[in-house]
Amino acid sequence: MDDLKEKYLAKIADAEDEAALEDLRVQAIGKKGEISLKMRELGRMSPEERQVAGPKLNALKNEITSALAARKAALADAALEERLRNEWLDVTLPGRPRRQGSIHPVSQVTEEITAIFADMGFAVAEGPQIESDWYNFDALNIPPEHPARQEHDTFFMSRAPGDTRPPHVLRTHTSPVQIRAMQAQGAPIRIIAPGRVYRMDMDQTHTPMFHQVEGLAVGRDISMANLKWVLEEFCRAFFEVDEVEIRFRASHFPFTEPSAEVDIRCSWDGGSLKLGEGDDWMEILGSGMVHPKVLEAGGIDPQQWQGFAFGIGIDRLAMLKYGIPDLRAFFESDLRWLRHYGFPALDIPTLHGGLSR
Ligand code: DAH
Repeated sequence: MDDLKEKYLAKIADAEDEAALEDLRVQAIGKKGEISLKMRELGRMSPEERQVAGPKLNALKNEITSALAARKAALADAALEERLRNEWLDVTLPGRPRRQGSIHPVSQVTEEITAIFADMGFAVAEGPQIESDWYNFDALNIPPEHPARQEHDTFFMSRAPGDTRPPHVLRTHTSPVQIRAMQAQGAPIRIIAPGRVYRMDMDQTHTPMFHQVEGLAVGRDISMANLKWVLEEFCRAFFEVDEVEIRFRASHFPFTEPSAEVDIRCSWDGGSLKLGEGDDWMEILGSGMVHPKVLEAGGIDPQQWQGFAFGIGIDRLAMLKYGIPDLRAFFESDLRWLRHYGFPALDIPTLHGGLSR
């Protein structure tokens, strides 16, 4: 018995891991273990012998059991010590100033536009991107047979088979927010509505999803002169340079009368886009006096109220202001592009603090 004891205690002390300990447990006190077999022999002993051997064997078994447990605990302690040594971290080291994320030019420009119009008393309004046919077209004086519907290259949602109602659309412009805002607030009203719009179109200056900001101002005697001043003021503030040149061009939209488009002088020389020079003009917005039928659709009496509206292409403003030649790259999520054209996350555009510094 002393031999057994010595043998197992030595082996347990040397065991390197839990698996080795388990092997030893089975060898010693498992069902067919050496000590268990010895215990079975007790039955064949004389009562006197048994009285001596029984307690000894039990004591031996207990001793082995506690040696196994002690070794197991020691191994766990050692493993923990080892981890604490290896996973040590000096939390007093200075942090690494790495610029991880950046603000996308579209978000940046949206913030800049919002800051400028907020300063002129415009609140921000919102509407859904999946829009009803009525809000996207009819309410804006574009009835079903109107040719303007074709020009919009609309994405249609599907309807259940047999459902003959006109399908919903991915809004083709932010103009339906005019109607929703008028219905919600009535007149007078002064809002802008930035957001995503969708059209089936794709080239260097068009993507199937792009961004517009709608503007709407309705009051007792708001005129075309107010519109012109607001747009000129906006362009001056937005482009932050002296030599930007804009032109108003007579145009036509079903939802305004009269209507005007605004272009900005730019050049595309050598594949790069430059503002305020060259012989090219880039269209950046449509505008006009809100059509009486549109006021009516918004629940506003055109005998009492009048106003102007405009729709600006946000992505195009971003291209012009920051000299980004290809619109498609805006939505490719190429990290190198994002790092190059992105803006620091904590510099929020304000008129007093600077729009883009
Ligand atoms: N909704 C027009 C478009 O997407 C842009 C526009 C033109 C908006 C004139 C207006 C406006 O509010 O008055 O092409």
